[in-house]
Amino acid sequence: MSKNLEGKVAIVTGAARGIGAAIARRLAEAGASVAVCDLKPEWCDETVKSLEALGVKAKGYGVNVAVSAEVDQCVKSVLADFGKIDIMVNNAGITKDGLLMRMSDDDWDAVIDVNLKGTFLFTRAVSRPMMKNKAPDGTQLGGSIINIASVVGIMGNAGQANYTASKGGVIALTKTTAKELGSRNIRCNAVAPGFIQSKMTDVLPEDVKKAYMDTIPLKRFGTVEDIAKAVAWLAGDESAYVTGQVLSVNGGMIG
Ligand code: NAI
Repeated sequence: MSKNLEGKVAIVTGAARGIGAAIARRLAEAGASVAVCDLKPEWCDETVKSLEALGVKAKGYGVNVAVSAEVDQCVKSVLADFGKIDIMVNNAGITKDGLLMRMSDDDWDAVIDVNLKGTFLFTRAVSRPMMKNKAPDGTQLGGSIINIASVVGIMGNAGQANYTASKGGVIALTKTTAKELGSRNIRCNAVAPGFIQSKMTDVLPEDVKKAYMDTIPLKRFGTVEDIAKAVAWLAGDESAYVTGQVLSVNGGMIG
Protein backbone atom coordinates (compact mmCIF):
# COMPACT_ATOMS: atom_id res chain seq x y z
CA MET A 1 0.00 0.00 0.00
CA SER A 2 1.12 3.55 -0.73
CA LYS A 3 3.24 5.21 1.96
CA ASN A 4 1.82 8.62 1.06
CA LEU A 5 1.77 9.78 4.70
CA GLU A 6 5.45 9.08 5.38
CA GLY A 7 6.98 11.96 7.38
CA LYS A 8 3.56 13.10 8.63
CA VAL A 9 2.55 13.25 12.30
CA ALA A 10 -1.05 12.45 13.28
CA ILE A 11 -3.06 12.76 16.49
CA VAL A 12 -6.02 10.40 16.83
CA THR A 13 -8.36 10.74 19.83
CA GLY A 14 -10.32 7.81 21.22
CA ALA A 15 -7.73 5.56 19.59
CA ALA A 16 -7.58 2.84 22.26
CA ARG A 17 -10.19 0.77 20.43
CA GLY A 18 -12.91 0.67 17.79
CA ILE A 19 -12.94 3.13 14.92
CA GLY A 20 -10.13 5.26 16.43
CA ALA A 21 -7.74 2.29 16.68
CA ALA A 22 -8.53 1.34 13.06
CA ILE A 23 -7.88 4.92 11.92
CA ALA A 24 -4.54 4.97 13.77
CA ARG A 25 -3.57 1.67 12.09
CA ARG A 26 -4.52 2.86 8.63
CA LEU A 27 -2.56 6.11 8.99
CA ALA A 28 0.44 4.10 10.24
CA GLU A 29 0.14 1.71 7.28
CA ALA A 30 0.43 4.79 5.06
CA GLY A 31 3.62 5.71 6.94
CA ALA A 32 2.44 8.34 9.45
CA SER A 33 3.74 8.60 13.02
CA VAL A 34 0.78 8.55 15.40
CA ALA A 35 0.03 10.09 18.81
CA VAL A 36 -2.56 7.69 20.25
CA CYS A 37 -4.88 9.51 22.65
CA ASP A 38 -7.48 8.13 25.03
CA LEU A 39 -8.72 8.70 28.57
CA LYS A 40 -5.93 6.67 30.21
CA PRO A 41 -2.42 6.26 28.78
CA GLU A 42 -2.37 2.52 29.52
CA TRP A 43 -5.52 2.02 27.45
CA CYS A 44 -3.44 3.12 24.45
CA ASP A 45 -0.78 0.41 24.88
CA GLU A 46 -2.34 -2.18 22.57
CA THR A 47 -2.84 0.29 19.73
CA VAL A 48 0.67 1.72 20.18
CA LYS A 49 2.20 -1.79 19.98
CA SER A 50 0.25 -2.60 16.82
CA LEU A 51 1.49 0.63 15.18
CA GLU A 52 5.10 0.05 16.22
CA ALA A 53 4.84 -3.39 14.62
CA LEU A 54 4.10 -1.55 11.36
CA GLY A 55 7.45 0.25 11.72
CA VAL A 56 6.26 3.75 12.62
CA LYS A 57 6.79 5.89 15.71
CA ALA A 58 3.80 5.83 18.06
CA LYS A 59 3.14 6.95 21.63
CA GLY A 60 0.11 6.88 23.95
CA TYR A 61 -1.27 9.92 25.80
CA GLY A 62 -3.91 10.08 28.53
CA VAL A 63 -6.23 13.00 27.83
CA ASN A 64 -9.85 13.84 28.46
CA VAL A 65 -10.82 15.66 25.26
CA ALA A 66 -13.49 17.63 27.14
CA VAL A 67 -10.96 19.34 29.45
CA SER A 68 -9.24 22.36 27.94
CA ALA A 69 -6.05 22.25 30.05
CA GLU A 70 -5.57 18.53 29.36
CA VAL A 71 -5.97 19.04 25.62
CA ASP A 72 -3.47 21.92 25.56
CA GLN A 73 -0.98 19.88 27.60
CA CYS A 74 -1.42 16.89 25.30
CA VAL A 75 -0.72 18.96 22.18
CA LYS A 76 2.38 20.43 23.87
CA SER A 77 3.64 16.94 24.70
CA VAL A 78 3.01 15.69 21.16
CA LEU A 79 4.95 18.66 19.76
CA ALA A 80 7.83 17.94 22.17
CA ASP A 81 7.84 14.23 21.23
CA PHE A 82 7.17 14.41 17.48
CA GLY A 83 8.18 17.99 16.52
CA LYS A 84 5.03 18.93 14.57
CA ILE A 85 1.40 18.01 13.85
CA ASP A 86 0.08 17.47 10.30
CA ILE A 87 -3.09 15.44 10.82
CA MET A 88 -5.73 15.73 13.57
CA VAL A 89 -8.48 13.15 13.84
CA ASN A 90 -11.23 14.06 16.33
CA ASN A 91 -12.76 10.64 16.88
CA ALA A 92 -13.41 10.31 20.65
CA GLY A 93 -17.13 10.13 21.24
CA ILE A 94 -19.75 8.85 23.67
CA THR A 95 -23.49 8.20 23.76
CA LYS A 96 -25.92 8.62 26.65
CA ASP A 97 -29.22 7.81 24.99
CA GLY A 98 -32.71 8.55 26.27
CA LEU A 99 -35.90 10.26 25.17
CA LEU A 100 -35.49 14.00 25.39
CA MET A 101 -38.47 14.46 27.73
CA ARG A 102 -36.58 12.45 30.33
CA MET A 103 -33.00 13.41 29.45
CA SER A 104 -31.04 14.79 32.41
CA ASP A 105 -28.93 17.93 32.18
CA ASP A 106 -25.91 15.79 33.06
CA ASP A 107 -26.47 13.39 30.15
CA TRP A 108 -26.95 16.31 27.76
CA ASP A 109 -23.79 18.09 28.97
CA ALA A 110 -21.58 14.99 29.05
CA VAL A 111 -22.22 14.12 25.40
CA ILE A 112 -21.93 17.69 24.14
CA ASP A 113 -18.71 18.16 26.14
CA VAL A 114 -16.92 15.12 24.73
CA ASN A 115 -18.23 15.02 21.17
CA LEU A 116 -18.54 18.71 20.33
CA LYS A 117 -16.44 20.68 22.81
CA GLY A 118 -13.67 18.07 22.61
CA THR A 119 -13.52 18.52 18.84
CA PHE A 120 -13.37 22.30 19.26
CA LEU A 121 -10.64 22.13 21.93
CA PHE A 122 -8.31 19.91 19.87
CA THR A 123 -8.98 21.91 16.70
CA ARG A 124 -8.11 25.16 18.50
CA ALA A 125 -5.00 23.63 20.07
CA VAL A 126 -3.56 22.22 16.81
CA SER A 127 -4.42 25.17 14.56
CA ARG A 128 -1.38 27.28 15.49
CA PRO A 129 1.15 24.43 15.19
CA MET A 130 -0.41 23.48 11.83
CA MET A 131 -0.04 27.08 10.60
CA LYS A 132 3.67 26.79 11.28
CA ASN A 133 4.09 23.83 8.90
CA LYS A 134 6.03 25.28 6.00
CA ALA A 135 8.16 23.82 3.20
CA PRO A 136 11.80 25.01 2.98
CA ASP A 137 10.75 27.44 0.21
CA GLY A 138 8.14 28.97 2.53
CA THR A 139 5.11 27.26 0.95
CA GLN A 140 2.33 26.83 3.52
CA LEU A 141 1.94 23.09 4.16
CA GLY A 142 -0.83 23.49 6.74
CA GLY A 143 -2.55 20.28 7.75
CA SER A 144 -5.68 18.17 7.64
CA ILE A 145 -8.29 17.98 10.39
CA ILE A 146 -10.85 15.19 10.20
CA ASN A 147 -13.85 15.10 12.50
CA ILE A 148 -15.89 11.95 13.03
CA ALA A 149 -19.56 12.90 12.84
CA SER A 150 -22.44 10.44 12.26
CA VAL A 151 -25.30 9.79 9.86
CA VAL A 152 -27.66 10.68 12.72
CA GLY A 153 -26.05 14.13 12.95
CA ILE A 154 -27.62 14.70 9.52
CA MET A 155 -30.91 12.77 9.92
CA GLY A 156 -31.71 13.03 13.63
CA ASN A 157 -32.61 9.92 15.64
CA ALA A 158 -35.24 9.35 18.33
CA GLY A 159 -33.61 8.75 21.71
CA GLN A 160 -30.41 10.59 20.85
CA ALA A 161 -31.14 14.32 21.29
CA ASN A 162 -27.75 14.97 22.89
CA TYR A 163 -25.76 12.77 20.49
CA THR A 164 -27.44 13.99 17.28
CA ALA A 165 -27.08 17.62 18.38
CA SER A 166 -23.40 17.05 19.14
CA LYS A 167 -22.77 15.46 15.74
CA GLY A 168 -24.78 18.12 13.89
CA GLY A 169 -22.65 20.63 15.77
CA VAL A 170 -19.49 18.84 14.67
CA ILE A 171 -20.61 19.18 11.05
CA ALA A 172 -21.19 22.94 11.41
CA LEU A 173 -17.88 23.33 13.27
CA THR A 174 -16.14 21.46 10.44
CA LYS A 175 -17.48 23.94 7.86
CA THR A 176 -16.49 26.96 9.97
CA THR A 177 -13.01 25.56 10.63
CA ALA A 178 -12.55 25.04 6.89
CA LYS A 179 -13.50 28.68 6.24
CA GLU A 180 -11.31 30.14 9.00
CA LEU A 181 -8.17 28.11 8.34
CA GLY A 182 -8.33 27.53 4.58
CA SER A 183 -6.04 30.44 3.77
CA ARG A 184 -3.29 28.66 5.76
CA ASN A 185 -3.84 25.46 3.76
CA ILE A 186 -5.41 23.76 6.77
CA ARG A 187 -8.27 21.63 5.51
CA CYS A 188 -11.11 20.39 7.69
CA ASN A 189 -13.59 17.69 6.72
CA ALA A 190 -15.99 15.36 8.51
CA VAL A 191 -16.63 11.67 7.99
CA ALA A 192 -20.18 10.62 8.82
CA PRO A 193 -20.29 6.87 9.46
CA GLY A 194 -23.52 4.95 9.13
CA PHE A 195 -24.13 1.68 10.96
CA ILE A 196 -20.68 0.33 11.84
CA GLN A 197 -20.26 -3.21 13.11
CA SER A 198 -18.78 -2.84 16.60
CA LYS A 199 -19.10 -4.08 20.18
CA MET A 200 -21.73 -1.38 20.64
CA THR A 201 -23.87 -2.47 17.70
CA ASP A 202 -23.32 -6.25 18.11
CA VAL A 203 -25.59 -6.28 21.16
CA LEU A 204 -28.61 -4.77 19.38
CA PRO A 205 -31.62 -7.10 19.01
CA GLU A 206 -31.89 -8.92 15.66
CA ASP A 207 -35.11 -7.12 14.65
CA VAL A 208 -33.45 -3.73 15.20
CA LYS A 209 -30.44 -4.80 13.11
CA LYS A 210 -32.77 -6.03 10.36
CA ALA A 211 -34.64 -2.71 10.34
CA TYR A 212 -31.32 -0.90 9.84
CA MET A 213 -30.20 -3.36 7.16
CA ASP A 214 -33.39 -2.66 5.18
CA THR A 215 -32.26 0.99 4.85
CA ILE A 216 -28.76 0.11 3.51
CA PRO A 217 -28.55 -0.34 -0.29
CA LEU A 218 -25.15 -2.11 -0.06
CA LYS A 219 -26.80 -4.71 2.23
CA ARG A 220 -24.04 -4.93 4.79
CA PHE A 221 -23.03 -3.05 7.90
CA GLY A 222 -19.87 -0.96 7.71
CA THR A 223 -16.54 -2.01 9.18
CA VAL A 224 -14.10 0.12 11.16
CA GLU A 225 -11.75 -0.22 8.19
CA ASP A 226 -14.35 1.36 5.87
CA ILE A 227 -14.19 4.48 8.04
CA ALA A 228 -10.41 4.37 8.44
CA LYS A 229 -9.91 4.30 4.65
CA ALA A 230 -12.05 7.41 4.17
CA VAL A 231 -10.13 9.20 6.93
CA ALA A 232 -6.76 8.25 5.41
CA TRP A 233 -7.87 9.68 2.06
CA LEU A 234 -8.90 12.96 3.68
CA ALA A 235 -5.59 13.04 5.62
CA GLY A 236 -3.39 12.92 2.52
CA ASP A 237 -2.71 14.99 -0.58
CA GLU A 238 -5.05 12.91 -2.75
CA SER A 239 -7.81 15.11 -1.26
CA ALA A 240 -5.76 18.34 -1.44
CA TYR A 241 -8.65 20.40 -2.88
CA VAL A 242 -11.35 19.03 -0.55
CA THR A 243 -12.35 21.03 2.52
CA GLY A 244 -15.50 21.82 4.50
CA GLN A 245 -17.15 18.61 3.33
CA VAL A 246 -19.04 15.80 5.00
CA LEU A 247 -18.14 12.42 3.55
CA SER A 248 -20.92 9.94 4.29
CA VAL A 249 -19.61 6.39 4.63
CA ASN A 250 -22.84 4.51 5.19
CA GLY A 251 -23.48 2.01 2.41
CA GLY A 252 -25.95 4.38 0.78
CA MET A 253 -28.20 4.81 3.84
CA ILE A 254 -30.15 8.08 3.49
CA GLY A 255 -27.95 10.77 4.98
P1 NAI B 1 -15.90 3.32 21.10
O1 NAI B 1 -16.72 3.57 22.31
O2 NAI B 1 -15.56 1.90 20.75
O3 NAI B 1 -14.52 4.14 21.22
C1 NAI B 1 -14.49 5.47 21.62
C2 NAI B 1 -13.16 5.74 22.30
O4 NAI B 1 -13.18 7.09 22.75
C3 NAI B 1 -12.92 4.85 23.52
O5 NAI B 1 -11.62 4.29 23.47
C4 NAI B 1 -13.08 5.82 24.68
O6 NAI B 1 -12.28 5.49 25.83
C5 NAI B 1 -12.66 7.12 24.06
N1 NAI B 1 -13.19 8.28 24.80
C6 NAI B 1 -14.44 8.44 25.28
N2 NAI B 1 -14.55 9.60 25.94
C7 NAI B 1 -13.33 10.20 25.88
C8 NAI B 1 -12.81 11.41 26.37
N3 NAI B 1 -13.55 12.26 27.10
N4 NAI B 1 -11.52 11.71 26.11
C9 NAI B 1 -10.75 10.86 25.41
N5 NAI B 1 -11.19 9.69 24.90
C10 NAI B 1 -12.46 9.37 25.14
O7 NAI B 1 -16.65 4.07 19.92
P2 NAI B 1 -16.56 3.87 18.32
O8 NAI B 1 -17.74 3.07 17.88
O9 NAI B 1 -15.21 3.42 17.91
O10 NAI B 1 -16.82 5.37 17.85
C11 NAI B 1 -15.80 6.26 17.47
C12 NAI B 1 -16.42 7.52 16.89
O11 NAI B 1 -17.25 7.18 15.80
C13 NAI B 1 -17.31 8.28 17.89
O12 NAI B 1 -17.16 9.67 17.68
C14 NAI B 1 -18.71 7.83 17.49
O13 NAI B 1 -19.67 8.79 17.85
C15 NAI B 1 -18.55 7.73 15.99
N6 NAI B 1 -19.54 6.87 15.34
C16 NAI B 1 -19.63 5.53 15.61
C17 NAI B 1 -20.58 4.75 14.96
C18 NAI B 1 -20.69 3.28 15.23
O14 NAI B 1 -21.59 2.64 14.64
N7 NAI B 1 -19.84 2.66 16.04
C19 NAI B 1 -21.49 5.31 13.98
C20 NAI B 1 -21.32 6.73 13.76
C21 NAI B 1 -20.36 7.46 14.42
